[in-house]
Amino acid sequence: MTNEEEFSPSALGTKEHWDAVYSRELSSFKEYGDEGEIWFGEGSMARVIRWLNAHKVPQTASILDIGTGNGMLLVELANSGYCNLTGIDYCSDAVQLAKSICEKEGVSQNVHLQVTDFLEDFHPSKLFDICLDKGTFDAVSLDPTGATEKREQYVQSLSRALKPQGLFIITSCNWTKEELLRQFGGEFEFKDELPTPTFSFGGKAGHSVTAVVLEKRSSS
Ligand SMILES: C[S@@+](CC[C@H](N)C(=O)[O-])C[C@H]1O[C@@H](n2cnc3c(N)ncnc32)[C@H](O)[C@@H]1O
Repeated sequence: MTNEEEFSPSALGTKEHWDAVYSRELSSFKEYGDEGEIWFGEGSMARVIRWLNAHKVPQTASILDIGTGNGMLLVELANSGYCNLTGIDYCSDAVQLAKSICEKEGVSQNVHLQVTDFLEDFHPSKLFDICLDKGTFDAVSLDPTGATEKREQYVQSLSRALKPQGLFIITSCNWTKEELLRQFGGEFEFKDELPTPTFSFGGKAGHSVTAVVLEKRSSS
């Protein structure tokens, strides 16, 4: 994808869609103990945690997972020793599911979860060291009611949530590294790219998922 305007608005960009998804996933968890979908697979969580460990990010760092869904990334972080974790989602059933999974996994004391629309009403009392996104900016990018404006709101909310020089680690299946740098480049600078699996087609190799680390400029 080279031109952001080529994205077609989709149900995946609506709250109604995610409410329906997590209503089903919450029922399924209650009935069968099934935690539901892990977006981009287990490897996508392991990659983020490996990067944090390799860069010696303190386990007490304040970490926000934006659009946490079932909260499994937070569970994995807590199981790896990170203890200052927050997850938000605008879908109340997602937050209920994430809370239930955290309780089951015995990590609730390290994870704060809250129902919040990141674009509309997220005003944290303390700034975060690190913000994570796995699939949420992708969903926002498909909003049928004005995706370009929503993406701008996302960048503003992110900038308000992070400390100067705070890190943003985003995993996306819709955007390339270059496109992400264009979206966030005003207030953030490129720090690193996480290795993601490649696929080959017609003799060309490509990535199905992009994962990059951006750093908030100190002047923003
Ligand atoms: C593709 S899912 C990814 C969920 C989770 N990050 C994961 O990796 O499993 C996108 C998530 O973003 C949430 N979301 C979308 N727009 C949001 C917004 N404006 N504020 C908060 N959460 C939002 C959805 O409810 C959904 O949980």
